[in-house]
Amino acid sequence: MSKPSFLQNKEKLLPTEASLERAKGLGKRQYVRFAFYKIDPIWRRLDRQVQTDHKKELNKIITSFNRRMLLRPYSTIGTRADTEILFWQIADSPLVFQEFGAAIIKTKMGAYLELKYSYFSQTKRSIYELPPSFGDSEEPEERLVIDPSEAKYLFVYPFIKTREWYQLSLAARQGMINEHIIVGRKYPSVKLNTTYSYGLDDYEFIVAFETDEPSDFLDLVQELRETTVSMYTKQDIPVFTCINMRLDQALDALGGPITAEIIKAGETKEIWMDVCPLDELGPGQTKVVYLEGKQIGVFNIAGQIYALNNRCSHARGPLTEGEIDEKEACVVCPWHYTKFDLKTGKAIDGLVKTPVDIYEVKIQNNLISIGYEKTYE
Ligand code: FES
Repeated sequence: MSKPSFLQNKEKLLPTEASLERAKGLGKRQYVRFAFYKIDPIWRRLDRQVQTDHKKELNKIITSFNRRMLLRPYSTIGTRADTEILFWQIADSPLVFQEFGAAIIKTKMGAYLELKYSYFSQTKRSIYELPPSFGDSEEPEERLVIDPSEAKYLFVYPFIKTREWYQLSLAARQGMINEHIIVGRKYPSVKLNTTYSYGLDDYEFIVAFETDEPSDFLDLVQELRETTVSMYTKQDIPVFTCINMRLDQALDALGGPITAEIIKAGETKEIWMDVCPLDELGPGQTKVVYLEGKQIGVFNIAGQIYALNNRCSHARGPLTEGEIDEKEACVVCPWHYTKFDLKTGKAIDGLVKTPVDIYEVKIQNNLISIGYEKTYE
């Protein structure tokens, strides 16, 4: 007896890219959101003490999300007329974005903040290969993880290709992408973060470029206009030039009295963050938190707590998902098996020698906190 037709069809189904990633333990794509707000000018005419109280409340609410997602504030005052502040958000689940948006609305200052643009996307491995002769060490998995730098500027725009692009053969598209990549690599000071938006939002990609040199970005974009692939661009506006700032400074830029702590260039400060009560992280358990734009893995190994950058120094593999060697207090990266010492962050075996940053841990009143010394520029 022949199989029912729905079963025959099922056998012909190819595994999806997402299912292949999951099978290789690479299933954790990240969700990304760019939320641009503008303050109602009426807020600037409120009593100054009220403005101060509003900013402090909003700062506290936003900071409370640091444990759950990677959050970067940027100011667009002076570069755009229609937005004033950006919150770049990166998380493992989109649900936290909803909670974040709702929490902002519920603050007193939220009553005056208008969400002007919101872009929602996800990381994904590119279907295109890097040109083989390129000598580039980027691993395809690296695209799954956003690891923002400390660059002063971020350039963000949504992107849509023409439908004709998708009718070209993969080889033809690869050829044009190679040309595009070669131009991009002429500008090493510009770091690209490409995220995918198909079906999640109105666009196909949201691209975010980080650099300290806006003129390099301008030259790069101008040169890219001359590439063949540029003929297949349907939309690549609006473009946002965003300035990386501390949260208190970005809020002060909106108006009202200064609330930001004055920190001189070169000054060093201790930054601490509470993680969780000790009894919520039992022996053998791990936890991921975010501190100052970095994802930190917190490990309880036989009662000893360790904290280190959760992103492997090879291609950003998630260390908290790696195998733990309790005896040696080491973790093995789940992607390509580099082994890291949890005490020192040193890479002691595997593909790379570059260590990962470690963080100080303190436990007071049953509460785990992690911290480090930050030097301000
Ligand atoms: S990402 Fe390659 S060894 Fe960790």
